[in-house]
Amino acid sequence: MKLIKEKNYEAMSRQAANIISAQVIIKPDCVLGLATGSTPIGTYNQLAAWYEKGDVDFSRVRTINLDEYIGISGRDEHSYRYFMDKNFFEKINIKKENTFVPSGIAKDIEKECKEYDRRIKDFGGIDLQLLGIGLDGHIGFNEPGDCFQKNTHVVKLHSSTIEANSRFFSSPEKVPEYAITMGMISIMQAKKILLIANGKAKEDILNKALYGAITPQIPASILQLHSDLTVIYSEE
Ligand code: PGA
Repeated sequence: MKLIKEKNYEAMSRQAANIISAQVIIKPDCVLGLATGSTPIGTYNQLAAWYEKGDVDFSRVRTINLDEYIGISGRDEHSYRYFMDKNFFEKINIKKENTFVPSGIAKDIEKECKEYDRRIKDFGGIDLQLLGIGLDGHIGFNEPGDCFQKNTHVVKLHSSTIEANSRFFSSPEKVPEYAITMGMISIMQAKKILLIANGKAKEDILNKALYGAITPQIPASILQLHSDLTVIYSEE
């Protein structure tokens, strides 16, 4: 594992964007696994700025996102599809048809899960997976539990996750209770993993995940077993 400590959010975002753009330059048709949340917004902004300057080209890149709320459509401003479109995809030259976010309104959600895994397999796996970490140690929406969930699956969100994410909704009651998330196989089979975390509040869970026991009670702890993990942390 490589741990990089940066002085602030901006430096963390710049460093993460550096690693992602290097991946795109080395392999222009790479598969990027992407994440939502407050943490990656600066990274996406930096990548968009470099695209504007002509330094990075996303025309052949394919992306696959970690997760989506169940019950809201991609046109809803609270959906992760909407988040990705507004914060990243609409700012760069990626082809919309090359961007994938699970559907939270699929009629047959089990089928959607299976198809999502098949799609990742057909891609030949993920070249670089970007991850945030939840205060409870979740990655994607893989919440703490009795076992690591292998495949894309439906998950009931923990109350701490609902509370943390309620800042994006008018009230905690409006946060969907269920989500669809990529499982640990697709994440762990990514060739490279880049985990970004910022703020003192994340320090404790990050330490537990990176240096403590490998346990499904702290889903991110499984990352200790990955052979190419980079973590960028900023205290500010
Ligand atoms: P955050 O979320 O970036 O909004 O802190 C991280 C996560 O829950 O994975």
